[in-house]
Amino acid sequence: MISFRATSIAVTAALLAGCAAVPADMELRQPPLADGGDGPGIAHPEIWPAYDYPVPANPQAEQRIADLLNRMTLEEKIGQLVQADLCCVTPEDVRRYNLGSILVGGNSGPGGDDLAPAPEWLKAADEFYLASVDRSDGGVGVPLVWGTDAVHGHSNIVGATIFPHNIGLGAMRDPSLVEKIGAVTAKEIRVTGQEWTFAPTVAVPQDFRWGRAYEGYSSDPELVASYVGAMVRGLQGPPTNDNLLAGPHVIASTKHFLADGGTDRGVDQGDSSIDEETLRDIHGLPYGPAIGEGVATVMVSFSSWQGRKMTGNRSLVTDVLKDRMDFGGFVVSDWNAHGQVEGCTNESCPEALTAGIDMYMAPDTWKPIYEDLLARARSGEVSMERIDEAVARILRVKMRLGLFEAGKPSDRPLSGDYDLLGAPEHREVARQAVRQSMVLLKNQGVLPLRPGGRLLVAGDGADDIARQSGGWTLSWQGTGIDNSDFPGATSIFSGLKQTVEAGGGTAQLSPDGSFSERPDAAIVVFGEKPYSEFQGDRATLALDPELTAPYETMRKLKAQGIPVVALMLTGRPLYVNPALNMADAFVVAWLPGSEGGGVADVLVGNAAGQPRHGFTGKLPAAWPQTPAMEDGVLFPFGYGLTYGTAAQGWTPLPEIAVTETSDTRSWFTAGSPASGWSLLVGGEEGDVQTRVTTVPAEALRGRVRVTATDYLVQEGGRRFTIADGDASVLLRNFEPVNVDRETNGDVKLLFTLRVWDAPDSASIGAGGESGRGAVSFDMQQSSEWRRYGIPLKCLRAQGADVTELTLPFILRTQGTADYALGEVRLGTDAEVDVPCS
Ligand code: BGC
Ligand code: BGC
Repeated sequence: MISFRATSIAVTAALLAGCAAVPADMELRQPPLADGGDGPGIAHPEIWPAYDYPVPANPQAEQRIADLLNRMTLEEKIGQLVQADLCCVTPEDVRRYNLGSILVGGNSGPGGDDLAPAPEWLKAADEFYLASVDRSDGGVGVPLVWGTDAVHGHSNIVGATIFPHNIGLGAMRDPSLVEKIGAVTAKEIRVTGQEWTFAPTVAVPQDFRWGRAYEGYSSDPELVASYVGAMVRGLQGPPTNDNLLAGPHVIASTKHFLADGGTDRGVDQGDSSIDEETLRDIHGLPYGPAIGEGVATVMVSFSSWQGRKMTGNRSLVTDVLKDRMDFGGFVVSDWNAHGQVEGCTNESCPEALTAGIDMYMAPDTWKPIYEDLLARARSGEVSMERIDEAVARILRVKMRLGLFEAGKPSDRPLSGDYDLLGAPEHREVARQAVRQSMVLLKNQGVLPLRPGGRLLVAGDGADDIARQSGGWTLSWQGTGIDNSDFPGATSIFSGLKQTVEAGGGTAQLSPDGSFSERPDAAIVVFGEKPYSEFQGDRATLALDPELTAPYETMRKLKAQGIPVVALMLTGRPLYVNPALNMADAFVVAWLPGSEGGGVADVLVGNAAGQPRHGFTGKLPAAWPQTPAMEDGVLFPFGYGLTYGTAAQGWTPLPEIAVTETSDTRSWFTAGSPASGWSLLVGGEEGDVQTRVTTVPAEALRGRVRVTATDYLVQEGGRRFTIADGDASVLLRNFEPVNVDRETNGDVKLLFTLRVWDAPDSASIGAGGESGRGAVSFDMQQSSEWRRYGIPLKCLRAQGADVTELTLPFILRTQGTADYALGEVRLGTDAEVDVPCS
């Protein structure tokens, strides 16, 4: 099932004659017919490579495992199979249910504080650990393991070293530096008491419209495979290491098995319709070196292969991964992913265990999952043998960690050494990675810059550490934070300033490029804003139009004869031809993280005009020619200039105007609904609904007048002047959308309003094939635009069928009212939260 109807973007072919239409290919390809008659999505293990899991068998540990299995009650065993999120579990729950693990999701933190200081994390680690080993109820007291998304450094922790996201590391072509990064990350994790990171992502993204593309190193399976072993070794130490916690290590998790980066049209959690050979050769390749280094855990993907959800695919999880590939650790599922398996719900899914999942990531559903598994084990519906096998795998990893002997987290090596978080030697490793990851796409002789001159640093990304760090930084989406949340970090601007000033020059920050003293050169920092997972999915490879304002800055500077360096922050290659044409030099910095100083190391030369550090980065994936992938490649995989490359002429690239966002989660913007959707005005039940196309318009027999008003752009909003009575403004779509996945998280329905005359009462709701739900809210008069937000969870609780929304937005008012609607979209950044009631 497709979860989103992609919005097409309106592209006006300008210079590019006959440019192929951009709207994404919207057809679902038919899964290929199965050969051998065993059905689509069933793998043939015999065609997969066989590996040897290198972790030495430990007879003593096996003896202990057998002994524990003998002594554990069924309840204790089931508890081991369940992982709860910090949001929704207490140490008391862990004690009572013998939970095997907890995790901290992107938006969780000790005491409900995502930004809690490091000592709070260690304190929480102790509390949960002590609860897990408590034997006062007669249980065996298996210590729990705590997992976190330390995906680019210990990235949930304020003050930690934040490394470039994986796509930037892919540009370095340097496995030994990747190993060092893994080792530094492991040390920093140990400071706050966790033992497990959900990294590295070994996705091989094939379609960069995917919102998680930056979590993968490259589109090239060989390049990804060349990094995986190094990262796992950096984190875990060598496979023979049988007491990880005695040293500076943690366990790793390669994710997301399998073909998370291979879904059709790059839809997150979507379906990959590729054949089995492609599945094996592209997406399976990195699992060889991961298993070769004895990776302790594998996380299974939300996505499906040939229509079958991975979390329920026994042929891949058990027959291929565990049996054929000899993976000897344990398999964890993803965030409530079991609920997406055919026939399952978030509360019940024995199918996942049967398929080979050993541990359920059941963030807020751990209790029903526990109870359901227990009941089914008691009734014999799930086999005891399978339960014992899963528990044994988990215990084996825990023994390898040395968890049974390690004592409480704060007693272990490195714990509480807070100086290690963001330690200078750690930051130096990150800064080196920043230098090595930058890719030079154009240089008409302006780089390297001389340090002695007057430098203008412009663009909306110049002095913003959150922006340069991307998603999965302190918060899930990497939003809602600012420079003050990054003690010890360096923005791109501050790095440039330090370097230029040390060389006797000056650097001035001016986001819009205005200046009083004429600069010798300007750097304009622009690009994507942070996002993660499905929130980053796009329908095309265009940079969102609202992010292209810095183009105007470049244009103005160029018009004044000032040399311009464009520096792009991005998680993926995107169509940016206007900037490539305008700037004298163009550098891709990806998402460099906390050590923005690495940028200046390469861009600013020495007094003699010689580089201090060269450009070594090469594209980890091809750069597109237009927003449509099928239109071909502008710069191939592996492209990247150096300071040694002779300056060449520049043939202007074709430009096409991108006027609409390709964010598939934007439902109403710039005065129009998403393509294929309608904006309607309706009244009480039975009243006809009027579709609003052109304005001014009238609806409900003249009771409602619809006009245009400005919002962000000219006539970007729609104003509704309602004479009296009931009136609803609705969005209706053509194909139902499934927002089940976002309802699982903390995603909200956001709607931006300006209210001249408030109604007597108002409600916000949504409706699906089998149910509507609405919540009343206080719609207040205001002369400013305000972004209201209602969690999708609330709408579901009120009865909205979120799996098949056909009326994704229903704003209903009673009484005279006069208000305008600017935007409707999904997101998390509400200004006014509508309380759930
Ligand atoms: C993501 C995983 C992540 C997990 C825990 C999921 O939504 O897909 O990559 O490790 O959440 O935060
Ligand atoms: C993420 C979690 C995050 C949650 C927020 C999940 O998809 O993976 O890490 O905290 O959504 O609702």
